[in-house]
Amino acid sequence: MAVRKLLLLPGDGIGTEIMVEVRKLLAYMNDNLGAGFEIEEGLVGGAAHDAHGKSISEEHMKLAHDADAVLFGAVGGPKWDGVPYDVRPEAGLLRLRKEMELFANLRPAICYPALADSSSLKKDVIEGLDILIVRELTGGVYFGDPKEIIDLGNGQKRGIDTQVYDTYEIERIAGVAFELARTRGNRVTSMEKRNVMKSGVLWNEVVTATHEAKYKDVELDHMLADAGGMQLVRWPKQFDVIVCDNLFGDMLSDVAAMLTGSLGMLPSASLGAPDGKTGVRKALYEPVHGSAPDIAGKGLANPIAKIASFAMCLRYSFNMVEEADLLEKAIANVLDSGKRTADIAAPHLPTVSTSEMGDAVLDQFKALTA
Ligand code: NAD
Ligand code: IPM
Ligand code: MN
Repeated sequence: MAVRKLLLLPGDGIGTEIMVEVRKLLAYMNDNLGAGFEIEEGLVGGAAHDAHGKSISEEHMKLAHDADAVLFGAVGGPKWDGVPYDVRPEAGLLRLRKEMELFANLRPAICYPALADSSSLKKDVIEGLDILIVRELTGGVYFGDPKEIIDLGNGQKRGIDTQVYDTYEIERIAGVAFELARTRGNRVTSMEKRNVMKSGVLWNEVVTATHEAKYKDVELDHMLADAGGMQLVRWPKQFDVIVCDNLFGDMLSDVAAMLTGSLGMLPSASLGAPDGKTGVRKALYEPVHGSAPDIAGKGLANPIAKIASFAMCLRYSFNMVEEADLLEKAIANVLDSGKRTADIAAPHLPTVSTSEMGDAVLDQFKALTA
């Protein structure tokens, strides 16, 4: 039986609650489908900070490096607002992304038919929506030097973040976007701000050159990122694959999440480059949402973003394409049956809890895989 090494990093807030629902699926798949998941668990974020004063320990970083895939929950919360910047919960996630070189973050936004009425936009704007945001994840303003607050000595301080992109970073993320576009609508829209930013000028040039060199069969267009945000809510179905830098990708994917009905619906995969010898990619699977302190501990969290991130894990890390398809089908069936967590429910209609939603998806998955 294949051994598949998974590291679970639930993190904080609803991160721990949604991970419970994935554990149920893992147990079922090990016991009944011979999945062979070997599961380790670690601490990240505020939970790690509470345990040992760091947002992730060296030991758990090593577990992440050694795993075939990492399943991540969410980190952060008001409890850690005052902790030093370098050890705040979010730093643990950023360290994982950077040190594992997870440069490609895939954030698909799909409107499940049953949720066509759940978006804040009109039904015909989002019905049938299926777009993919490819976000660069290890560069840009998140990581550029200098990044600091300096004291100007006159009662003023200066906060500095630096947006930096090198050719190879843009080339490789563009390559991922074009390759993925070929497997779906064959169209890529690159978003930057070349009208203001030097890194935007380079981004535009390198995406264009990459397209010319290797991907002329894919349709490419360019959009200024602010206009792109507007187009995303005006008529999102004009897009197939959107490729953009780290910060624009962060913001645009939260916007895209609301097209699907809720931030609680949007999964993501953070992938590294394929290993030269084995072709295996390092990978971490994380919902797009955060630790949701406003609903944490109340059983209100929607576990679907996390469960769908696990489906991406089955597909991208373990080539378990059939199981991934069936898990996504299970989610769709549960939504079709009318079950709703509070975030996707119409006002005054009955809702289910996190664990009831997780159980419903598990039951459907069992039925589909029996
Ligand atoms: P958030 O994504 O945690 O929450 C935004 C809103 O969406 C809240 O109203 C929340 O209740 C709702 N929401 C999010 N996920 C949901 C789910 N699964 N089901 C139902 N409702 C859901 O963003 P925030 O409030 O701006 O940030 C809270 C903390 O999370 C901060 O510390 C932030 O840094 C952190 N954060 C972490 C990650 C991550 O770990 N990947 C991502 C984003 C934010
Ligand atoms: C996300 C989050 C993270 C980001 C934070 C928590 C570091 O907002 O994954 O979208 O900004 O990348
Ligand atoms: Mn974000």
